[in-house]
Amino acid sequence: MSKKLALISLLAAFILGLAACGNQSSQGVPTPVINADTLVYAVPDTNKIPHDPYGDMVRYGRDLVFNTAKYIGPDGSVGKYLGNKMNCSNCHLDGGTRPYGLNYFTTHARYPQYRGREDRILSLGERINKCIERPHNGTPMPLDAKEIIAIECYISWVGTNTVVGQHINGDESLEINYPDRPADITRGAEVYSQHCQSCHGVNGEGQWTPDGSTYLYPPLWGLKSYQKGSSPHRIIKAARFIKANMPDKIAHWTKPTLTDDQCVDVAGFINDDRIHPRPEKKDSKANPDYPNIKFKAIDYGIGPFVDTFSEMQHKFGPYKPIIEYHKAHHLPILF
Ligand code: HEC
Ligand code: HEC
Repeated sequence: MSKKLALISLLAAFILGLAACGNQSSQGVPTPVINADTLVYAVPDTNKIPHDPYGDMVRYGRDLVFNTAKYIGPDGSVGKYLGNKMNCSNCHLDGGTRPYGLNYFTTHARYPQYRGREDRILSLGERINKCIERPHNGTPMPLDAKEIIAIECYISWVGTNTVVGQHINGDESLEINYPDRPADITRGAEVYSQHCQSCHGVNGEGQWTPDGSTYLYPPLWGLKSYQKGSSPHRIIKAARFIKANMPDKIAHWTKPTLTDDQCVDVAGFINDDRIHPRPEKKDSKANPDYPNIKFKAIDYGIGPFVDTFSEMQHKFGPYKPIIEYHKAHHLPILF
């Protein structure tokens, strides 16, 4: 190649590099290192978030995920969208970067996606709004709001090392062996007072930070907690999260503190609507969850169902007979 030609192709490569958008930006992109044997996903390094317009939005999105209430909470500086003062990172642990902690490793790669609860395809921005509406008991933001786009950028950045369609261990929640009986609420209450109450409070109310702007320990029930019908309100979802992550800083996905039965029992206790109030979806009558019952999550406790099991059994278990029935009838098994 002549010197001139070489220079032109170098220039072209440079311009192409500049034009590349999203997480393909030339700066700060780690080489994908995903080793199926080592279990864990290589979370990109925050120090390497590029210093360009995309990187600035990634940093803002990360800040929003950790300090959600400050920006878009009931007293938010940007707008009042959330109905409570929880932060995304209270559930999406370590800002959605913890294995088995409701992380965002493959999220960006899996959206747009069909969601049974809404019975339609949701974009990533719409899915973010669903968490603003349900666990945060709030009002959706405009999809072109800077905050929604920033959170999308952050989620795409967390997924930098994801290969689309590739399974990543730790992306889902930890497996659990379901007991052959319903969740035992009395035993769940005992587990709660022994392992959870010191942080989350006698009445599940959590504990405020000294200035009351958000939580040191987020609430688990009550009107300031997540809504009925939101994902953590379902016992299987909650139990699998608790197994890998609670009590906080004690349990670890490699070494859970509670047994599987205890996880199901305490998740049942927390999410028992007969004893613990929580906010309701505003239009739940006119606009029920899972309008196509074939795609209803099996631990959602409100009928009608495609199968023959009661609301009580769907909510509290035992779940194995429901799973077996769905298998035998070639019905989806969704959690
Ligand atoms: C009270 C707990 C809680 C809070 C707070 C919360 N989420 Fe979620 N979020 C969940 C659960 C549970 C799921 C369901 C995960 C699943 O389907 O396995 C979820 C799912 C999601 C998903 C889809 C993930 C995927 O990979 O399919 C996104 C995106 C998301 N949340 C974003 C947010 C954002 C942004 C915030 C803050 C504005 C937030 N969430 C606050 C519990 C929460
Ligand atoms: C040492 C204090 C501590 C203990 C004990 C503890 N948690 Fe937590 N829990 C936390 C903190 C802190 C968070 C938020 C994590 C974050 O923001 O990084 C949290 C988050 C949660 C969440 C998701 C957020 C929400 O409010 O819905 C659930 C569910 C939960 N804990 C359940 C439990 C259960 C069940 C137990 C007992 C088995 C338990 N926790 C024990 C401190 C604790």
